[in-house]
Amino acid sequence: MTEKTNEIRVHDEGTVLRLQINRPEKKNALTLEMYSALAEAIRDADRQKKVRVILLHGTEDCFTSGNDLKDFLNSPPQGDESPVMQFLLALSQAQKPVVAVVQGAAIGIGTTLLLHCDLVYASTEARFQLPFVNLGLCPEAASSFILPQLMGRQRAAELILLGEAFSAEKALELGIVNQTFSSQELLERGLEQARKLAALPPSAVRLSKALLVKGDARAIAQTMAEETPLFMERLESPEAKEAFAAFFERRKADFSKF
Ligand code: COA
Repeated sequence: MTEKTNEIRVHDEGTVLRLQINRPEKKNALTLEMYSALAEAIRDADRQKKVRVILLHGTEDCFTSGNDLKDFLNSPPQGDESPVMQFLLALSQAQKPVVAVVQGAAIGIGTTLLLHCDLVYASTEARFQLPFVNLGLCPEAASSFILPQLMGRQRAAELILLGEAFSAEKALELGIVNQTFSSQELLERGLEQARKLAALPPSAVRLSKALLVKGDARAIAQTMAEETPLFMERLESPEAKEAFAAFFERRKADFSKF
C-alpha cells in the first residue's frame, strides 16, 4: 500500500503488519486523513496473504488522544461514509487478529477502538478515558453495548457517565486489557505476542476469531447504527460547543447555563 500520510506509519515486519499512529505533537489526535489511512491499511492487511497479524500502537508517550477536536468542530462525521466510520467498520470487521499496544494516553476512540481488538497490552503507566459525556457527546464505536457486556452496567456507567481517566491496572481488572508491561518492554512484548499468533496455523486463527466475534457482530453493527446519528447530533449541540471551546481556551467548561 502507499502511505498517504506520514502520521500513520506502516511497518512491514513480515507476517506482522505494524501500524503506528504518529502525530506526537498533537498527542496522536486522529484526523480524517489518519482514519482513512488506518482503514485502508487494515483492509489491505486483510487482503495480503503474507500478513497474518495487525499490530496497532502509538508513539513513546501516547497511544492516541482520540478524535482531533478541531476536526469535530470543522468537519464532523456525516455518516457511514465518513473516515472515522470507515475505520471502525474496517477494524470491527477485520478478519485477521489485531493486537493493540497502548503506551500513555488512550482517550475517547483511543479506548473504544480497543474493544474491537483481539489482544490488548498496555504499559503500567497507560491512562484510559471515555470523556464523551464531559464533551457533551454520547458513546460511540458500539461502546454502549460492549462495555456493559464486558464489565456490567454499573462499572460501564462509571466510565461513561463520569468520564474520568483510569489506570492500566483498572483497565486490566475491567477486562479491557490482557496484560500490562513496563514502558521499556511493552512494544517488544506486544510484538512477541503478535509473532506468536502469526506463527500459528493462519486459517485456524482466522476461523477462531470469526467464531469469537460472530455472536456480537449483529448487535455491534446495530448499536453503531443507533449511536452514530445521536453522536453527530451531539457534535452540533451547545454543550459540545462549550466543551470544545473550553479545551482550546485551556479553561474548565461551564455547563451551568444548560
Ligand atoms: N484534538 C486536537 N488537538 C489535541 C487533542 C485532540 N484530541 N489532544 C491534544 N491536542 C493538542 C493540544 O491542543 C495541544 O496543541 P498545541 O500544542 O497546539 O496547543 C497538543 O495537542 C498537546 O496537548 P496538551 O493538552 O498540551 O498536552 P497534555 O500533555 O497537557 O495533555 C491530553 C494531553 C491527551 C491529556 C490532553 O491533550 C487532552 O485531554 N486532549 C483531549 C482529549 C479528548 O478530549 N479527546 C476527544 C475524545 S472524544
